[in-house]
Amino acid sequence: MKPGSPYHSFSLSLISLCLLLMTACSADPPRIALADLDFALADAGSGEKLYNQSNNEAPACSACHSISGASSGIGNSLAGLPELAADRIAGQSATEYLYWSILRPGQHLVAGYSNLMYADYENSLEAADLADLIAYLLTL
Ligand code: HEC
Repeated sequence: MKPGSPYHSFSLSLISLCLLLMTACSADPPRIALADLDFALADAGSGEKLYNQSNNEAPACSACHSISGASSGIGNSLAGLPELAADRIAGQSATEYLYWSILRPGQHLVAGYSNLMYADYENSLEAADLADLIAYLLTL
């Protein structure tokens, strides 16, 4: 197909349309917005329990992450997470980074690790659970 032919520009428009649709779909906002999280009521103790147990059939965070500094082999250790989280993405606070890490784990991958994190926590956790979990993660 020659560049400049009507077919050429038609296929280019089709490609752009597909790219646009793909971006629109992956940008689907999480069911729980960051603004829905009430950190004034968050309880790190409940967050620790949530971290260590399976909730609504979703795997426990502790199945893939340690908090001791040792890598489990699947996920990285979350020791020292508050400082790490604050520095991971320019312009994102530690809280924002943790919110996105839990709800959209594939969006940013920790260097050296693969996209293996369970990706459906938005359907197994409620807003209050998520706030408790983040409050706990910020104590590590
Ligand atoms: C099936 C394994 C698995 C489970 C279960 C899992 N994670 Fe992860 N997680 C990973 C992997 C692998 C990474 C590194 C790749 C990435 O960034 O997604 C990761 C990355 C993270 C990060 C980013 C860490 C950093 O240093 O930037 C956070 C925060 C996190 N997980 C929190 C959680 C929490 C909280 C839970 C439970 C609600 C959880 N994870 C459950 C595998 C898992």
